[in-house]
Amino acid sequence: MSVLPAGFAGRVIRWQGTHGRNTLPWQNTCDPYRVWLSEIMLQQTQVATVLDYYARFLARFPDVRALAAAELDDVLALWSGLGYYSRARNMHQCARDVVALHGGEFPRNAQELQTLPGIGRSTAAAIASFCFGERVAILDGNVKRVLTRVLGYGADLAQASSERELWALAQELLPRRAVRESMPRYTQGLMDLGATICLPRNPNCLLCPVRELCAARAEGAPENYPVKTRKLKRSSEALWLLRASNRDGSVWLEKRPLTGIWAGLYCLPVFESRDALQAALPQRSRESLDDGEPFLHVLTHKDLHLHPVAVELAASPVQAAGQGAWFASEDLPQLGLPAPIRRLLQD
Ligand code: ADE
Repeated sequence: MSVLPAGFAGRVIRWQGTHGRNTLPWQNTCDPYRVWLSEIMLQQTQVATVLDYYARFLARFPDVRALAAAELDDVLALWSGLGYYSRARNMHQCARDVVALHGGEFPRNAQELQTLPGIGRSTAAAIASFCFGERVAILDGNVKRVLTRVLGYGADLAQASSERELWALAQELLPRRAVRESMPRYTQGLMDLGATICLPRNPNCLLCPVRELCAARAEGAPENYPVKTRKLKRSSEALWLLRASNRDGSVWLEKRPLTGIWAGLYCLPVFESRDALQAALPQRSRESLDDGEPFLHVLTHKDLHLHPVAVELAASPVQAAGQGAWFASEDLPQLGLPAPIRRLLQD
């Protein structure tokens, strides 16, 4: 392994002050509730998308007690469209744990933060360094890219031992001076470098504050890092969506089971085949199905080919339906719906 580059932290910190992002709504606060909320939202979602959701969430749930007191359905409804709904469910449980187990105050160090639902090692470190100036390393996907390039770290991150070693190196690189003031800026600086300069393709090395220290740049091929052999196995699935409406124009929605795709959200009834969809309908309506345009919805691990099928019905559509009900179009904004279903129903 290479020797650690001297002056790395100082360069990141100085660059962050002048070129980093410093006016995002979850910055310039040490309130762990706000920082936590933003970090969870930002885990799989772009800053531009998070901005609106963050503002709405804070307005509705201004502190951890308000969120803990909320119904999960209301939290999911506000989360609707952000995707990865386990984040919202964990977040709700986390708020309840903070109230029940920690007297309504987030723990003030990364180790304890990490015991809470939905807070992994890197998120715990981000909260602890932003809010409490703790000297603890973050290592999300973007930061892995920055550090493996700077260090020329070519071990395979699919191996747990390499990942562990990179965590240790990340910890070694942390600032050692004026730690409480340095840590928030350093942590944000690494995130900003990963998001704006050290991009997966065509990194902007000319603007990078650590280019003189960067082993990957010296090698002339920064894109060779990080090395990760295991590929995501993608699969695809076709699903049929029953879009049943009644004479008032209300639509039949069912609550999804708490596990699997769109867990806990309201949704059109989902079937694995058109035959299964048809079989769930009363005999007389089976002849009047209206097949809509199939569309693709891409999840992390799966391509969903969704086939909407519309039908007009008088009574509840699905025999032995789960938790279902008719909803008028004006009810839809308040419901937690998967984004593709919301878009479909708006058409
Ligand atoms: N992504 C994760 N955390 C972030 C933060 N604090 N600011 C901007 N992007 C982020």
